[in-house]
Amino acid sequence: MLVPCLLLNTGKFLFLMIAVDLDLGNYERFLDITLTRENNITAGKIYQSVLEKERRGDYLGKTVQVVPHISDAIKNHIESVATIPMDGQEGPADVCVIELGGTVGDIESMPFIEALRQLSFSVGPDNFCLIHVSLIPVLGVVGEQKTKPTQLSVRELRALGLTPHLLACRSAQPILDNTKEKLSQFCHVPVCNILNIHDVPNIWHIPLLLTNQNAHHSILKQLNLVRIATAPDLRDWTNMAATYDNLTNSVKIAMVGKYVGLTDSYLSVVKALLHACVACSLKPSIDWIAATDLEDESSKLKPEAHAAAWETLRKASCVLVPGGFGDRGVKGMILAAKYARENKVPYLGICLGMQISVIEFAGSVLGWEKANSTEFDDGTLYPVVIFMPEGSKTHMGSTMRLGSRRTVFQTADCITKRMYHNSEYVDERHRHRYEVNSEFIETFEEAGLKFVGKDETGKRMEILELPSHPFYVGVQFHPEFKSRPRRPSPVFLGFILAATGQLDLYLEKQINGS
Ligand SMILES: *[C@@H]1O[C@H](CO)[C@@H](O)[C@H](O)[C@H]1NC(C)=O
Ligand SMILES: *[C@@H]1O[C@H](CO)[C@@H](O)[C@H](O)[C@H]1NC(C)=O
Ligand SMILES: *[C@@H]1O[C@H](CO)[C@@H](O)[C@H](O)[C@H]1NC(C)=O
Repeated sequence: MLVPCLLLNTGKFLFLMIAVDLDLGNYERFLDITLTRENNITAGKIYQSVLEKERRGDYLGKTVQVVPHISDAIKNHIESVATIPMDGQEGPADVCVIELGGTVGDIESMPFIEALRQLSFSVGPDNFCLIHVSLIPVLGVVGEQKTKPTQLSVRELRALGLTPHLLACRSAQPILDNTKEKLSQFCHVPVCNILNIHDVPNIWHIPLLLTNQNAHHSILKQLNLVRIATAPDLRDWTNMAATYDNLTNSVKIAMVGKYVGLTDSYLSVVKALLHACVACSLKPSIDWIAATDLEDESSKLKPEAHAAAWETLRKASCVLVPGGFGDRGVKGMILAAKYARENKVPYLGICLGMQISVIEFAGSVLGWEKANSTEFDDGTLYPVVIFMPEGSKTHMGSTMRLGSRRTVFQTADCITKRMYHNSEYVDERHRHRYEVNSEFIETFEEAGLKFVGKDETGKRMEILELPSHPFYVGVQFHPEFKSRPRRPSPVFLGFILAATGQLDLYLEKQINGS
């Protein structure tokens, strides 16, 4: 998040992001860049590469050790990712951002810290800037801001050979001057390098908050880049923050998923909804519904939760079923899709959510009650969703259809093509192992469910629509990954416009070119 300030004279953005655990999507959205799996270094990947090398005999039969073998592998991976030019850039990046998640002192993070210690030594003091993030809790009735946890973690970090140049202190309220002074004194970090990230009304305030504290200057100074850097341009961020603060009306979105507790796994979807809502001058109001609560079984087991889930669904202006794996809650998702289809409530199904609408349509409209996905029922009579034929079932992960793939529109007469500015095709990101079975497509289309987007071979179904409905759209891809604060995903935008009755007007205006 500090990075928008590091725009140098060259006119390029210069980063490269390596995250060790957190959501890479945050960096993609904030910096408007596209990252790959290479940017995601995990302990699992590192250990696997070291074991493979060991088997190949690269270590000449020596015993594999955390230091140097694991830490070297981490360092090499960082160096190799840092020297590959990023998407759309000519040379390698000038600055590499490495996010190391976890807590200082965790066993898991030890080899990573050691790798960074070695890296800091090999690149030299002018080329390494360490920002240590820590929490300033408030204790007791008097609300004293506690600096001890930060002091201890800084001490621990130093003992491991790393010296923080800046402290980024998270707190609910702004931290007081004397708290800052205390931190400076006990952590040996100058007061001007102690940043405070306190709670703000919306996330777009964060870059402004940091610039106001001159974070960019402290970082550039540490990296000896002050002379060549231009001043940060945060007009867009200032506008976004102010626009959001001004929003008063909201739209109720029912999100029907498997893990409602685990909202992090749907973070990109939540952000994409936010981008689309802001574009419509609305605040999103997302109601999470655990799919299992909608199922008939739960009316006996948990009658209150069942009633509450249906009440929430009925009150929503639109229904979204995001992707997911496994069969938990599938029946509830089917019920949600049925409700949206029959009551003409805008529906967006993503990945599994699209497959759900196919199963639902087969069961309710075609009368194929036993229609199912082979993911849930291998022997179903009507396998309307199947494992992708060329994949091998034995290797999870490696058989996934991953990354950016092309979808070609089949007709001009559909909402999604018009939302994508009438493009002939779109490239969106994929992440799935099952797909709609092309054998049944004709029957579906005759009954009114149209497959308006397919892959280049015409065999893979990418987008479905129900023309007799205000907005009933299923997409096999994940449009949320390409959504950006000022460029909402067209699919999400159409969904929110439909939820608030503005879609027709929007599409009409587009035809008239205004
Ligand atoms: C990073 O890799 C881990 C483990 O392979 C995976 O669970 C996680 O989803 C990945 N994160 C991103 C943003 O790709
Ligand atoms: C926010 O609302 C105020 C008062 O209605 C208005 O003057 C201002 O221009 C608005 N700002 C934005 C960014 O919409
Ligand atoms: C699909 O199969 C699973 C597993 O047998 C079953 O629980 C589920 O009810 C089936 N779905 C439908 C729509 O029949």
